[in-house]
Amino acid sequence: MKYRRLGKTGLQVSSVGIGTWQLGNHWGKQFEQDEVNNIFARASELGINLVDTAECYGHHVSENFIGQALASSRDRWIIATKFGHNRCSELPGEAHWQADQVRLQLEASLHALKTDYIDIYQFHSGTREQLDNDDLWTMLNKQVQAGKVRYLGISIGQPSQLYQVDRATALGVSVIQTIYNAINNKAAETVLPSCQRQDLGVLARVPLASGFLSGKYQPDAQFPVNDVRAERKPEVNQQQITQALAVLENVPANVEPASWACAWCLQHPAISSVIPGIKTIEQLQINAAGADL
Ligand SMILES: NC(=O)c1ccc[n+]([C@@H]2O[C@H](COP(=O)([O-])OP(=O)(O)OC[C@H]3O[C@@H](n4cnc5c(N)ncnc54)[C@H](OP(=O)(O)O)[C@@H]3O)[C@@H](O)[C@H]2O)c1
Repeated sequence: MKYRRLGKTGLQVSSVGIGTWQLGNHWGKQFEQDEVNNIFARASELGINLVDTAECYGHHVSENFIGQALASSRDRWIIATKFGHNRCSELPGEAHWQADQVRLQLEASLHALKTDYIDIYQFHSGTREQLDNDDLWTMLNKQVQAGKVRYLGISIGQPSQLYQVDRATALGVSVIQTIYNAINNKAAETVLPSCQRQDLGVLARVPLASGFLSGKYQPDAQFPVNDVRAERKPEVNQQQITQALAVLENVPANVEPASWACAWCLQHPAISSVIPGIKTIEQLQINAAGADL
């Protein structure tokens, strides 16, 4: 494994981390705790030290799996989670961005993760209006002072949300998460330069273009009903798969496409870590190999 500095946080993160939307049972597979334990044990052996999760990957389901799996090795992991979309039992509706609501979500995430601090706490792809909320950032910066959160982050919904990135330093934010992969490199135009100017750490998400850069899907691929890819317009999946297959023609025959796709992202000096979502130990290993390409 190789390690990179996560911007001004100074943290050394593995250049390949783990994305865990999959653990929330949204990707056509139900997980059991034993399998998750085995995945994280193998990740440790591979030198991976960064995991990205969220309050809404299941109702704290992904966080719960991770909390259990890392209970005896919490200190060696950098845990990034998010806020904004969770349904708190006390609150109706699904999006909650007010300071007191986020405070409740933070406590719920700490409980699920079985920890008393979160390394990176990220604004989860909200709007400009939801971001521009002084009370929210005052509350969050107080959590940093209290030691419940080490660093604040913003996971932008789209690379067009440059405004949110440009606001980072003023809000006390030191990490940005963005879509970035070999078929969608829009972040390189404005988002990544802004991150470099502000010395922000960058987590590149969806590095495999939702699995399409693994090369295993053809444009007519069908996905099971409980897989997020089945909720997208078939023509969007089709177009992305076609683009991915075209890009993969450049991959040397002896290299796994998924390893290559992770390595492609890591060529950009602004990227601190890629966070491919995984469903098996085999996928984890292939992605981790991207660090050495
Ligand atoms: N708004 C946000 O903040 C936001 C949004 C999206 C994602 N994220 C984070 O970013 C992470 C990554 O994004 P993502 O999961 O959407 O997309 P991704 O990493 O591009 O793709 C993940 C999918 O690719 C397939 N895969 C993974 N490794 C593979 C390998 N080695 N070989 C073959 N197939 C492989 C798996 O599905 P199959 O095997 O079924 O194909 C997996 O579910 C998420 O898990 C989450 O932590 C955050």
